[in-house]
Amino acid sequence: MSEIAKIELDGKVYELPVIEGSENEKAIDISKLRELTGYITIDTGYKNTGATKSSITFLDGELGILHYRGYSIEQLAEKASFPEVAHLLIYGELPNQTELNDFESSIKKHTLVHEDMKQFFEAYPAQAHPMGVLSSMISSLATFYPESLDPNRSTEAKNLTVHRLLAKLPTLAAWAYKNSMRHKFMYPRNNYNYCENFLHMMFAMPTEDYHVDPIIVSALNKLLILHADHEQNCSTSTVRIVGSSQANLYSTVSAGISALWGPLHGGANQEVIEMLEQIHNDGGNVDKWVLKAKDKEDPFRLMGFGHRVYKNFDPRANIIKKACDDVLQKLGVNDPLLAIAKKLEKVALEDEYFKSRNLYPNVDFYSGIIYKAIGIPTEMFTVMFALGRLPGWIAQWKEMTENKEPIGRPRQVYIGKTSREYVPLSKR
Ligand code: SDX
Repeated sequence: MSEIAKIELDGKVYELPVIEGSENEKAIDISKLRELTGYITIDTGYKNTGATKSSITFLDGELGILHYRGYSIEQLAEKASFPEVAHLLIYGELPNQTELNDFESSIKKHTLVHEDMKQFFEAYPAQAHPMGVLSSMISSLATFYPESLDPNRSTEAKNLTVHRLLAKLPTLAAWAYKNSMRHKFMYPRNNYNYCENFLHMMFAMPTEDYHVDPIIVSALNKLLILHADHEQNCSTSTVRIVGSSQANLYSTVSAGISALWGPLHGGANQEVIEMLEQIHNDGGNVDKWVLKAKDKEDPFRLMGFGHRVYKNFDPRANIIKKACDDVLQKLGVNDPLLAIAKKLEKVALEDEYFKSRNLYPNVDFYSGIIYKAIGIPTEMFTVMFALGRLPGWIAQWKEMTENKEPIGRPRQVYIGKTSREYVPLSKR
């Protein structure tokens, strides 16, 4: 017998159904609330509101659990390749060898972008932030594939758009970097796998081939997997709501890239490194900066700390922290920012302000240190987050469209002026 929730309003008791998910999460279904009671609910920032039922990612903020389609992030980060995880998120299952070969070769067919798009890059100033370039370029792909605008196109046509996006985003991301350096664009090479190809397009020069370092490829593969999906976060919710209007997938993902850019979301990984450099340049006095983070009068926040859902630890942060030591040691990199980050974490986790607010390092706290060690420039950090999150956005969009979810259109409570008469200009 399924549970019900009882709510008493204006002396009347209403019964609302309770739903329970496969991991025993419970929700009160309020889809009939306004019809029954005339009331709506309000929950600024959606801290207590579920937007959908999803089979893609499960996370438990109290226990620090993160699963993609039932597989733990620890196992996937350790054993899988990023294309395998992309296939898992988008199609629901880990691919067998034939399926993986087909998936990867289909993506390889579409890694080039239309030559005309190179002119777009030339219009950007060298200091253009690559996230601004990337979101524009991804949205512009819709102009080269007008068939993608048809919301009723076939499954095969939708799949082609999915593969084009997975194939072209790395190319456009790498070219945004090359453009900022005013270096020659490097074209994708189909003899490389997904991660090798991206690194080649980022770092190869016309004068010499790029040496593919397996340590760097492995680190990038792990980082992309760790960022691949995270249920209904800000940018994924953006993708779902933009996609719910039946906007094309390129524009929908472009909106997700723009939301991710914010410093409170994916932009935090760039902010963390800039914060660590600021502390390092200020003499490394961690205690002083922890005090600033606690001071309500001071706008300074400990970037890379805190999370809307994780209240004990972010499992991804733990994996990345371990990988930091391993990758930097293997590459022979000694980055003073890592020591500062570890000291900052230790001091904060012993401090009542952070403990009482359940503030722990999140995925962005250590990721920049690895990106820096493998040669990714700071301004490209959030682009790396977008590269990792792309399959998650696609999977969530696909689930929303296949479930024929309605256009997203929240309600509000009006608190403005009540009805009043127009006053002529001469009388104001
Ligand atoms: C990502 O949602 C996802 O899943 C996101 C993500 C994903 O994979 O998609 O995990 C990726 O976006 C990670 C978060 C990256 N952002 C940052 O690191 C920026 C710094 N952190 C925050 O600004 C903050 O912690 C948020 C935005 C992450 C969460 O904000 P909430 O849940 O709205 O919490 P809040 O801002 O209401 O903070 C609660 C309290 C407040 O103090 P009080 O008003 O109760 O006194 O904690 C304080 C905040 O001032 N606080 C911090 C803090 N984060 C929260 N104080 C100092 N430093 C911080 N970092």
